[in-house]
Amino acid sequence: MSLMKKIREYPVPRKSVAMWWLGQNGWIFKTPEGTLASVDMYLTDSCAGLVPHLDFSRQVPVLIAPEELDVDIFACTHNHQDHTDPFTIRGLRNKDTAHFVGPHPTCGVYAAEGIETGRIVPTWPQREIELADIKITGTFALPTDDSDLNHMGFVMQFGGGPKIYITGDTDFSELLFSVEKQKPDAVITVINGGFNNLSHWEAAEVCGRIKPKLAIPCHYDMFADNSIDPKQFRATLALRAPGVAYQEMTHGEPFLL
Ligand SMILES: [Fe+2]
Repeated sequence: MSLMKKIREYPVPRKSVAMWWLGQNGWIFKTPEGTLASVDMYLTDSCAGLVPHLDFSRQVPVLIAPEELDVDIFACTHNHQDHTDPFTIRGLRNKDTAHFVGPHPTCGVYAAEGIETGRIVPTWPQREIELADIKITGTFALPTDDSDLNHMGFVMQFGGGPKIYITGDTDFSELLFSVEKQKPDAVITVINGGFNNLSHWEAAEVCGRIKPKLAIPCHYDMFADNSIDPKQFRATLALRAPGVAYQEMTHGEPFLL
């Protein structure tokens, strides 16, 4: 059975959310009502060869082909191609049924790839939007280089139940601690440190301040030249965020929160 079909059939109990990791910062969430939201779907190998002398060929298989992806909300955190991938968006078959969410430059990519204006929902830090039974609050993220100065993260709340903070690519800033006010149950954080992203040490500090129940590392697996061992984050989390449980994901396997 295809992963998309498995996700569609997966039952989600009340007051929970099911999630699947597709690699890098790519996530699919499912609410008890059956609403599906994706974040940063990178479902091609379009970054390979993007930067001379760096190995950005994908190491995680494409678990869902773009034309198979069928979500109600398609969200992206910023315009780097491992997050807003024009080739993934080009291949989607559900352009007329999904809502496409992201900061303005990302909305420009949606429009360029044929998404109708009425389906595009621009958002930004501190903006709250509600689509079906999912509330999405934009969070601050500090750009990692000057090729895109419009990074953001999301706090997503599913069916009035669990809240998850997705940092997105971000350099370290004390402004990241502002998410503490929203009391997320879990934090999904980048940990790779490369290209000015949060290091595992900085990510653990952010988790220590925000104090979720659970911290889930991501963005360490996709490219040979942008990888670290997530166990380093497990160790620093124990030191800098005692009481926050470490949760490592397996690509394509469900996790229920
Ligand atoms: Fe990235």
